[in-house]
Order: sequence, then C-alpha cells, then structure tokens
Amino acid sequence: MKGVILAGGKGTRMMPLTKVTNKHLLPIYNEPMIYYPIKTLAAAGIKDILIVVGGESMGEFLRLLGSGREFGVNLTYRCQEGAGGIPAALALAKEFADNDRVMVVLGDNVMDESLKEEAHKFESGNSGCHIFLKEVHDPQRYGVVELDGGKVVAIHEKPEKPPTNLCVTGVYMFDSAVFGIIPDMKPSRRGELEIVDVLNHYLKEGRLSWSRLKGYWTDAGTFEAWFEANAIVRENSIKGGK
Ligand code: DAU
Repeated sequence: MKGVILAGGKGTRMMPLTKVTNKHLLPIYNEPMIYYPIKTLAAAGIKDILIVVGGESMGEFLRLLGSGREFGVNLTYRCQEGAGGIPAALALAKEFADNDRVMVVLGDNVMDESLKEEAHKFESGNSGCHIFLKEVHDPQRYGVVELDGGKVVAIHEKPEKPPTNLCVTGVYMFDSAVFGIIPDMKPSRRGELEIVDVLNHYLKEGRLSWSRLKGYWTDAGTFEAWFEANAIVRENSIKGGK
C-alpha cells in the first residue's frame, strides 16, 4: 500500500499564523506538524509517500523534508493549485497510486497509534474503504457517523446536531476505485468537494469498514486543538524521556 499526505488548503482558520508560513510547517512542540503524518505512515509500514502541497509552499517542504531518508521513506511531491477540497487534493495522487491501495492522512492530524495491523487487514480484506473513528467532545467540527444498532448508516460533515460524538478522523484507506468516484463529485454548499461524500459512496455500496482509534488523536487545524496537541505531545515526550 502507498501513502498520501494532504497538506494543501489555505489554513485560513489559523490566520495570521498562516499568512507567511504554511499551517503544516507550524510546530507541534519540538517538531513541525508535517512530521506527524509522515511518522504515522512510516509506522504503518508504508515506504512510498506522496505529499500534496499548496503551490506557494513547495520550496519550504522540499527544504525541510527532502527525499524522506531521515524518516526511512521515499517522498514524492505534487502541487495543488487553489483549495478545491480534500477529494480534489486526493485526485492528484491517481498516477502515483498506480492502481495500488492508499492510506491517506490529512496533514494536520496528530496521533500516536500504530496502524500497522489495520493496514495489513485492509490489504488482504474485501473492504473498499476503511475509516478510523474517535470519540470527541465537539463533533460539530468534524465528519460524524450516524449509527443504527452498531452499524454506520450515514456520515455527515460538520452537522449542527451530531447524531453521535464519533468523529471520522483524517486517516483513510481506499482501494483504487476512489479515483473513479472523485471526478463525478459535485462541490458542497461551501464550494468544495467533501471527503464524506466519498465515504458515503462506499457506504452505499456496502464496501465501507471502520474501527476505533485507541490512542491519542487530534486535528490540529484550529488554535485550541493546536495548543492542546502541543501540550499533549510535550507531556508524552517528557514521560517517554525524549
Ligand atoms: O481531521 C478530520 C476532519 O478533517 C474530518 O472529520 C472531516 O470530515 C474532514 O472534512 C476534515 O475536516 P476539516 O475541517 O479539518 O478540513 P480542512 O479543510 O481543515 O482540511 C484538512 C486538511 O486537508 C488540511 O490540513 C490540508 C488538507 N487539504 C484541505 C483542503 C480543503 C488539502 O490538501 N486540500 C484542500 O483543498
């Protein structure tokens, strides 16, 4: 399986910190944010990784990450013009994926769990798409699953009245059919393609699987979540003696 990190977008929620710096280059305690999704993929046993970057920041990413040797991975880069949404960024990985399955991590997702076992299961199983869920106290900010008798029946993006507090984290595994689904998608009311529409497509086909993340997870894309991620990573690294 190959890896894809989506680090495009404009980072508008974190202005003015993101006025001259890309959000994914901001620090989480002692490392740049983009190190975390790279380490998540490397820990899952994935060696070939594509990073989709917003055009203006490509030079900085290359300067920081180079070939990926420091992480034991091979990095490839692609440029996303504008911010058409997460599926638009993912579509740029079609040639790189070359009909393989992909594990996709959003560039602002910080977690400490190894997904190696789930990756193996997905590679040898029948699921077309696997999502990782996490209980959160503010589900309105995320994609949220609706359950019926323990089964996922729908996924809603940033619902005003969330049906559960189980959010869809920004780690996904897809088979190559995803690249056939995206070109037929229509933008949402906020003018972007939405990743939950891709997930609902798999759900309708009965090809969506899910599991819960057990460890720490956050999406560091707001000031509060970013601040919290800094504190938790600091605490864990002090405990771990790093
Ligand atoms: O983190 C989990 C959440 O991420 C999910 O629960 C939501 O379903 C999903 O839509 C997403 O929500 P966000 O509001 O956090 O998405 P955001 O626009 O902040 O984008 C997240 C990352 O995706 C961002 O760090 C970079 C990448 N991205 C985003 C856009 C809009 C791109 O690479 N290109 C883009 O055009």
